[in-house]
Amino acid sequence: SNDVQEDLKHVLYTKEQIQQRVAELAAQIDKDYEGRDLLIVGVLKGAVMVMADLARALHSHVKMDWMAVSSYGSGTQSSGVVRILKDLETDLMGKHVLIVEDIIDSGLTLSWLKTNLISRGPASVEICTLLRKPDAAKVEIDVKYVGYEIPNEFVVGYGLDYAERYRNLDFIGTLAPHIYE
Ligand code: PRP
Ligand code: MN
Ligand code: MG
Repeated sequence: SNDVQEDLKHVLYTKEQIQQRVAELAAQIDKDYEGRDLLIVGVLKGAVMVMADLARALHSHVKMDWMAVSSYGSGTQSSGVVRILKDLETDLMGKHVLIVEDIIDSGLTLSWLKTNLISRGPASVEICTLLRKPDAAKVEIDVKYVGYEIPNEFVVGYGLDYAERYRNLDFIGTLAPHIYE
């Protein structure tokens, strides 16, 4: 069947809940960066939805740039060895940088990325993620803005994929086991 709904177990966060939470994060970011120039960096491809909604919910001037990274290793497990597929076009020297992610799972991608961006001489580097799985963490990272902490389940939608599908959903749901088993 081509019906996406049949692949899902249940809805974790609705479109309305996500919009509300993203607006709250944006308000906090507006306050924290008041009077400072901010560059928000979206990590392709998962962060596309949260970047687009967060940027539109911010009231301050921000600049936007994108990175694409890929972690080496087989299967669905992140290895922690990261390769840059598309780099930023912005010089980070002296800039306030906020990395925007859809999810922190093991934390390995973000841990590597934060260190990489810090090495470019920015004024600051912080992280904003819509979702975090505390039970899946393999490395501790300091995350300033977290939308929701979620259990260690396979989630899709709102940018998050399984085998490149489901990114286009406007809500976040858990995948039915028959899809990945
Ligand atoms: C996913 C997700 C995060 C990363 C989190 O991206 O969007 O970027 O994995 O995993 P980690 O905390 O275990 O490192 P993925 O590599 O699947 O690429 P995508 O964004 O293009 O889906
Ligand atoms: Mn990603
Ligand atoms: Mg992915």
